[in-house]
Amino acid sequence: MSLDRFGRNINYLRISLTDKCNLRCVYCMPEDMTFRPRAELMQDDEIDRLVQLFAGLGFRKIRLTGGEPTVRHNVVDIVRRIAHTPGIETVAMTTNGLLLDKLARPLADAGLKRVNISIDTLNPEKFNKITRWGKVEDVWTGIESTQQAGLEVKLNAVVVRNYNDKEDVVDLARLTLAHPWQVRFIEMMPFGDVADFQQAGIVSQAELMTTISAELGPLSPVNNGELDGEAQLYRLDGAPGTIGFISSVTQPFCASCTRVRLTADGRLRLCLLREKEVDLLTPLRDGATNDDLKAIIEDGIWWKPWGHKLEEHIIPLNRVMSEIGG
Ligand code: 5AD
Ligand code: SF4
Repeated sequence: MSLDRFGRNINYLRISLTDKCNLRCVYCMPEDMTFRPRAELMQDDEIDRLVQLFAGLGFRKIRLTGGEPTVRHNVVDIVRRIAHTPGIETVAMTTNGLLLDKLARPLADAGLKRVNISIDTLNPEKFNKITRWGKVEDVWTGIESTQQAGLEVKLNAVVVRNYNDKEDVVDLARLTLAHPWQVRFIEMMPFGDVADFQQAGIVSQAELMTTISAELGPLSPVNNGELDGEAQLYRLDGAPGTIGFISSVTQPFCASCTRVRLTADGRLRLCLLREKEVDLLTPLRDGATNDDLKAIIEDGIWWKPWGHKLEEHIIPLNRVMSEIGG
């Protein structure tokens, strides 16, 4: 078991497999984003070794993120090896869905259990504008393939003012009336070079709930308002699906945080919204033993920051989202 100094049991690791992406969402990265050379990223065997160490420290759940994790070479083999690592109970992925048409079945066969797919609007023109060149039909195809492969699917939308904060949100919420899906709205968080844009365009959970209820009726809390992971869940009257809100900015859930992140270049990122990181890849490449690496990880986790300090205007500047993994 890995405890931090606030008594939180940290057992959930999110691993960014690459900082690259086949889209350029406006809230995630600048259009002229430059990516890291491949040699700076964790290699397959380095990921395997770190996952084994984390499993030995009590980690049970792994989520693969990016950038876009499906553009990583050998993603299916990486999933298979992680899923077979003793101690690891669940392997999940957060993806834009574009490549799931081909990959959903092999990923499911390799042991992937759950997939969160980003879809910020159902409107093709707006989708194209938010992602800078994506086609929403490709995401739909990916969603269908994922369901056919038997994977559990959740849909994620980041809401940006004047892009998708009105009818788009209502259309996404309406999906839960027809399907047993969980559709989650994520408050936009500020990072690095994109922080000004993000802070100007954030739409709060409270405002989203008002927008949705005005069109589709009241939202009732699910599970007495208890968090499902990081999401607060609600249901529209008679809906088979649920609507989730991930409101890191206006309603932080730091007290129940169980996670740390591994960046694509092998740094342990202790809190998404704080700059503090511990380098694991350099000592690993310099010949550190498993015991050395475990000690570095345990010490890092112990010092995991309590939470973010956005209200004090402290914004993480050292990386943008795609380098950390959502
Ligand atoms: N704020 C909140 N979520 C973000 N994502 C990307 N950038 C941001 C941001 N600034 C989300 C994506 C996806 C995951 C990778 O992270 O929509 O769900
Ligand atoms: Fe790519 Fe996801 Fe970032 Fe969009 S949010 S650019 S799909 S990593």
